[in-house]
Order: sequence, then structure tokens, then C-alpha cells
Amino acid sequence: MSPSTDAAQTGSRLAARALTLAYEDRTVVHELDLAVPDGQVTVIVGPNACGKSTTLRALGRLLKPRGGAVLLDGTELARIPTRRIARSIGLLPQTPVAPEAIIVSDLVARGRQPHQSWWQQWSDADERAVTDAMARTDVTALADRPVDELSGGQRQRVWIAMALAQETDLLLLDEPTTYLDIAHQVEVLDLVRQLASPAADGTRGRTVVTVLHDLNQAARYADHLVAMKEGRIVAEGRPEDIVTAGLVREVFGLAAVIVPDPVTGSPLVVPGAPWTSSATAPTQTPHPTPGKAL
Ligand SMILES: Nc1ncnc2c1ncn2[C@@H]1O[C@H](COP(=O)(O)OP(=O)(O)O)[C@@H](O)[C@H]1O
Ligand SMILES: [Mg+2]
Repeated sequence: MSPSTDAAQTGSRLAARALTLAYEDRTVVHELDLAVPDGQVTVIVGPNACGKSTTLRALGRLLKPRGGAVLLDGTELARIPTRRIARSIGLLPQTPVAPEAIIVSDLVARGRQPHQSWWQQWSDADERAVTDAMARTDVTALADRPVDELSGGQRQRVWIAMALAQETDLLLLDEPTTYLDIAHQVEVLDLVRQLASPAADGTRGRTVVTVLHDLNQAARYADHLVAMKEGRIVAEGRPEDIVTAGLVREVFGLAAVIVPDPVTGSPLVVPGAPWTSSATAPTQTPHPTPGKAL
């Protein structure tokens, strides 16, 4: 059974209202309205530079709106104390920067800062959260290694561990699968799904908003898919309701056919054959050599 993505039905703690975002005099997001469905995985897709990261940063209050607002539980982020936001919203930026020479376990432990206070520096709960986050992202064996000596994929998993250790109800991830090999990509996305799944006692799962550049992974893992172009939302809804050849052409300018994913049944975008352009038309190659043509 497909989960519903009706934000009105599920509720929406985090929302953007007429959100306009700009860098100096250049507006990159225009009056965007978005209700993030609680306890679901929302995936943002769109071409390079369309404003995905900018939107995500504003949802995590790393960027101040030029117009409109981001609301958490109905209150503008700008009016909520930073510490309270840090306990509610975790954000993994697209290119996070680690403090020099920090080791893995110390970086993951930084995810606990919003939970600490001057009278209690480090608790059993902090320890558990860090150990659990490192196990779930497969970085336990790297605990004592300096972060700047890791491979891109290892480092990415460490950052995800830090975001998990923060134990926020809302998690914003900007292209969390970058640098990961395919097995670790699937592992991270399975983990994201698992985080959003309701607990055995029926408690709602976490709310995740993630930017993904792979449209097929987006269609596989999203409950709610948001397609952006030039700073605006072009379509949003369940992947099976919105991913069409027309949408792929409109958003990415790509000719494609959509077939059911053989494993999940979700829409699978197969790019049309770009090599059948006039320059390589079969009439000019009576004995086509596929290796060469491809
Ligand atoms: N810090 C910045 N200063 C100025 N322009 C920026 C900055 N960050 C992003 N931009 C510009 O804003 C636009 C949207 O960027 P971004 O949100 O990063 O796109 P996406 O994540 O969709 O690839 C791009 O044109 C980009 O060059
Ligand atoms: Mg980006």
C-alpha cells in the first residue's frame, strides 16, 4: 500500500510559504510553497542550479528568506531560538566542511551539541546516540581515523552519522549519496526509508527531506516527490502520479520513456536513444558496430 502524501492529512510541521531566496541581487527561488509531509520521505529533484540546495538550506535556517517564510509548527524559523531548531531540524549540507584534524568519533559526537548543557556535558544517551549512528552508517571501524584522511564515500557516511546522532525529528539531507558506491547508496537510502517508517508501537517515523540527483532513486524512495525548475516547483506528489515522459522533458529537457521498475514497480526513467541523431543515423552506418556507436 502506498503511503499517502496528502500533507493536510498527515500534518506538516515544516512548511515554506511564498518563500523567496536570493544571493545579493539574484533571486534563485521564487515564492515557493511547500508543505513537508510529517513522517515521510520527501525528495527534491531538478536540474543543476535550479535551487534545490538553496531551498534546503532555507528549510534548515542556514539561509534567511528574502521574502515569505519557513514555518516550524506554525512559527517562523526566524522567531525560534537556534538551540530549539537544532533539536528539531538536522541538516547535512551538500559540501560540509570538517574542522581540521578531527577524528571520526569526535565529528559524530558534535551532532550531540544541541542536547548538551553546561551542567551535563556528556550523558549515556549521547554515547548511545553516537554509537548507534556510527553502526547504522557502517563507520564504527573508522572511529579513530582523521576525517580528512578518509575517502569521499567514507567521509560522506561519517557526515550522515553526525546528522543521525543529532536525533532530530526532521532531517534535511543534500545529496547524501554523493561519492558513495552503489551498494552504499542503496544502504543509505534504505536507512532513510527506515528512519521514516513508523515504529512497532505505531509512533510516527522521522520526517526526511532529501535532495537526490538520481531521478530513478528519487522515484524509488520518495513518498512525496518535488520536481523543481528555475527556482519553482513544477510538480509534486507521489512518484507514480507525477513522473511522466512529459515531466522529464519539461524539467530536464530529456526525451525518455517511463517503465515500471522491475523490483518496486515505481516509475523508471529510461532516457530515449540519443545516438539516433542524424549524424549517426543507421543509413550512414550499414554495418553498425554497437560498441563504437554507444
Ligand atoms: N553562496 C552563493 N552565492 C551566490 N550564488 C549562489 C550561492 N549558492 C548558490 N548560488 C547560485 O544559486 C543558484 C541555485 O544554486 P543551488 O541551490 O546550489 O542549486 P542546486 O542545488 O539545485 O544545484 C545557482 O545559480 C547557484 O550558482
Ligand atoms: Mg545542490
